[in-house]
Amino acid sequence: MKILNYGSMNIDNVYQMDHMIQPGETQMASAKNVFAGGKGLNQSIAIAKAGGAVYHAGVVGEDGAILMDTLTRGGVDTRYIKHMSGPSGHTVIQVDKNGQNSIIVFAGENMRVLEEDIANVLSGFEKGDLLILQNELDNSPTIMRMASERGMTIVFNPSPVNEGLKHYPLECVDWFLLNEIEGKALTQETDPEKILAALKVQYPKANVVLTLGGDGAFCVRGDEKVFQPIFPVKAVDTTAAGDTFTGYFVTGISKGDDLPTVMKRAAKASSIAVSRPGAADSIPYASEVEI
Ligand code: RIB
Repeated sequence: MKILNYGSMNIDNVYQMDHMIQPGETQMASAKNVFAGGKGLNQSIAIAKAGGAVYHAGVVGEDGAILMDTLTRGGVDTRYIKHMSGPSGHTVIQVDKNGQNSIIVFAGENMRVLEEDIANVLSGFEKGDLLILQNELDNSPTIMRMASERGMTIVFNPSPVNEGLKHYPLECVDWFLLNEIEGKALTQETDPEKILAALKVQYPKANVVLTLGGDGAFCVRGDEKVFQPIFPVKAVDTTAAGDTFTGYFVTGISKGDDLPTVMKRAAKASSIAVSRPGAADSIPYASEVEI
């Protein structure tokens, strides 16, 4: 089984703040760092660091060297990445003294995924291969539909939530990996059990991983249900914690590992990422994820 991640790549401009800036407020940042990020890139790095072989597809701009270097150093296959002359996707991220973040995303060249590019990329994949998608890329519904027509297994992380989600052919999804906010957007429910139940009714063939922040995570696959608590750590920067969980989870299921082990490893890897600054750089290698 080959793993294809068709996903965003962003240059993260990370500002260390005392607290999240309020409307009308001006505040000095105590530090600024530039990291490689983007939900897509982070998840590819997490898959590779977890020991999976992953192809990343998407678009970088003229300033994309940091993104390409990070993917290459991380062991990700970059042959399906298109290079354009505009700006790459970038973000402005505030991290407060408790390690919490807020993120502004400018999509840049992530918005230049054309239907012909998608057809070219997908021609390298076949039935049974796995596609992972997030919600930060142009034309993702088309990618999902075309990959499903090829018989690929579709893993969807509907992050970040926006109106565009309404246009996804979600009946194609085999795995939803989502948090409570995304679960609410898809089901209008807030209680975790009700979110899981509603997803089962709306998308009967889909398996689900529902992450609940500090309250752990559920996985429901057919009749199997696993709950995994978090590994408590002091939060330094929560950026990419969910992406780390997703990448480790996808690697585990692609290898056919048992669900409780897959969930435990994903939670442990995510907790390590939270204890370190940055996005892709904060993701641990499998050798660091002892469970
Ligand atoms: O999930 C974290 C990521 O979200 C950051 O790296 C940022 O680029 C945004 O896409």
